[in-house]
Amino acid sequence: MNKVMELLKSHTSVRKFTDKLVDEKLLHQIIQSSQYASTSNHIQAYTIIRIKDQDKKKTLAQLSGNQPYVEDCPIFLVFCADLNRLEKACTMNNETIESNSTEVFIMATVDTALVAQNIMVAAESVGLGGVYIGGIRNNPQDICDLLQIPHHVYPVFGMCLGYPEKTNGTKPRLPLSLVLKEDTYSTDGDEEQLKEYDDLISDYYKERTNNKRSNTWSEGIATFLKAKQRPHMKAFLQSKGFEMK
Ligand SMILES: Cc1cc2nc3c(=O)[nH]c(=O)nc-3n(C[C@H](O)[C@H](O)[C@H](O)COP(=O)(O)O)c2cc1C
Repeated sequence: MNKVMELLKSHTSVRKFTDKLVDEKLLHQIIQSSQYASTSNHIQAYTIIRIKDQDKKKTLAQLSGNQPYVEDCPIFLVFCADLNRLEKACTMNNETIESNSTEVFIMATVDTALVAQNIMVAAESVGLGGVYIGGIRNNPQDICDLLQIPHHVYPVFGMCLGYPEKTNGTKPRLPLSLVLKEDTYSTDGDEEQLKEYDDLISDYYKERTNNKRSNTWSEGIATFLKAKQRPHMKAFLQSKGFEMK
């Protein structure tokens, strides 16, 4: 494996940061290089809001389900899928944006995720660490009010970045044979492989928590997905103009 692959394989989410500040020029270099992420039709349908105001970070930490690292991290970014700018581009050319399609929603959301993951990797390449914060979708309207996020824009997730104080060992991922299929979507042998992966994850948690936690992966998934996740999202997205027709 080359250095890029080794870096990708060393990723772990970081939730504890030192007080060391991140150089502004370095942050801009990370973001500017990450803007070269592929983007559907070159629409670049995202905006990143960097939160400098400490009171806002405190509120965001609470609104994200009381995640203290949102307040404590040196850099907090809110990633928004953004059709507002595209609307302007259309108006400049005397056209009206067809913003209400499911396809446009997917494009903007995927663009946002691609640039964010570039930022995470670029940050890790210079010794920073971070964690995504999907918790900002717990209270998306409050977040829009706080950050004055306009119509046709929605906050997809946040990201904490900083110099790691504590890093965990990497979390084992699913075996390649489960996530990579050839020619057809065959599920032969999936259950046995899932059981093996359950054992692996269970051992990982036992070691990481001194035997206090031994959940399997499938148990975690079942507990998580038996509840409807963020049922407010559909109405919220529609209210922001993402009608998904
Ligand atoms: C879109 C997205 C949202 C996430 N939201 C949160 C979050 O709100 N809080 C948190 O602590 N971790 C969050 N995570 C981090 C995941 O829990 C983490 O990536 C996953 O457990 C794998 O662990 P690892 O990143 O350490 O390998 C999020 C990750 C993604 C991709």
